[in-house]
Amino acid sequence: MPAGGDVDALRDAAPSCRGCELWAPATQVVFSEGPADAAVMLVGEQPGDKEDLAGEPFVGPAGRVLHEALAAAGLDPEQVYVTNAVKHFRFEQRGKRRIHRTPLVTHLRACVPWLEAELAAVRPSVVVALGATAARGVLGRTVAVGQERGRVVEADGDRPPVVVTAHPSSVLRLRERAERDAATAAIVDDLRVAARAAAG
Ligand code: URA
Repeated sequence: MPAGGDVDALRDAAPSCRGCELWAPATQVVFSEGPADAAVMLVGEQPGDKEDLAGEPFVGPAGRVLHEALAAAGLDPEQVYVTNAVKHFRFEQRGKRRIHRTPLVTHLRACVPWLEAELAAVRPSVVVALGATAARGVLGRTVAVGQERGRVVEADGDRPPVVVTAHPSSVLRLRERAERDAATAAIVDDLRVAARAAAG
């Protein structure tokens, strides 16, 4: 980990991370996208299958939901910094398919130094945690998304405040169109709270 590194230095160093075992079966590290001086930092859970192959966060189906929600909340997807709590894809191989497995707390802990280095380098005005795993990585405690979403949660020390919302992939798991629309609208509402916090 480059001490005091800027985002480019972190992106250069991340491929050699051996902080946990997830690097070995993964195709590559998936670090982050977006400007190093972004006011809003979005933190997802971990890269999925598509992201592992592409080397970029949120390029798969959950990314589509996220980009739509950002645009609806008035946030330019190109102007936010997007990263994940865990930087390698955790999966189980079943035949040819790679099935997503939620990262363990040990994986979250191993990856925390990267997130802290990103926070120090980007110094965003607000962090958006996408889902419970991301929120746990960001806040360092268990988070019930339903109870804590959509409000500005002050963080420890000189850390930026955090807005928790649902993970965009939770929308994709819903069967009915009306349910998906409502779940997306709820994410948009939470993102608007973050946009207002960032605008001061
Ligand atoms: N889900 C995440 O949490 N992060 C990604 O980058 C893609 C899907």
